Amino acid sequence: MINQEQRIAIYPGSFDPLTNGHVDIIERGLKIFDKIIVAVLYNPSKNALFSVEERMEMIRKSFINHSNKENIIVDSFGGLLVDYAKQKDAVAIIRGMRAISDFESEFQMALMNRKLSRDVQTIFLMTGLRWIFISSSILKEVARFGGDISGMAPHPVKCKMKEKFPLLKDK
Ligand code: PNS
Repeated sequence: MINQEQRIAIYPGSFDPLTNGHVDIIERGLKIFDKIIVAVLYNPSKNALFSVEERMEMIRKSFINHSNKENIIVDSFGGLLVDYAKQKDAVAIIRGMRAISDFESEFQMALMNRKLSRDVQTIFLMTGLRWIFISSSILKEVARFGGDISGMAPHPVKCKMKEKFPLLKDK
């Protein structure tokens, strides 16, 4: 149950699929905010590997034993992020920043969101160094050709990836 006094942040993304880098950002976010809404973008025009429902399920399962699981809400959204943030009474949008290469697009998105709404602040969190090279795209590429993705994504994600990529084996 969300109440008005809580500081809620939205962590939006494609999460196709969730990686350990995303998990790291959620855990860092929970040190600042009372609740984090992990919001999967519903975007029919984007060719995703997993359906929005599959992605949400993987996220939920990945946090099922987390000590702070009651403060991690998994949801999906369509349309403008700032509208969704307002609807959820969120004070912030969290984005993970890995390297300089992320900066330009993130900066543009944050400024556009600020132009659209002054009520929500974008907060950038740095991923831990060990996740700096991980992205959903690179994970999918490695898994597609049977490369080991252990330690790069939570176990429920790895299991689901095996369904899509038969070459991916237990290693
Ligand atoms: O994980 P991603 O794909 O980098 O996440 C991108 C996301 C979902 C944060 C962004 O595409 C988004 O917010 N889309 C919603 C539409 C919107 O509000 N666009 C205006 C801000 S640029």
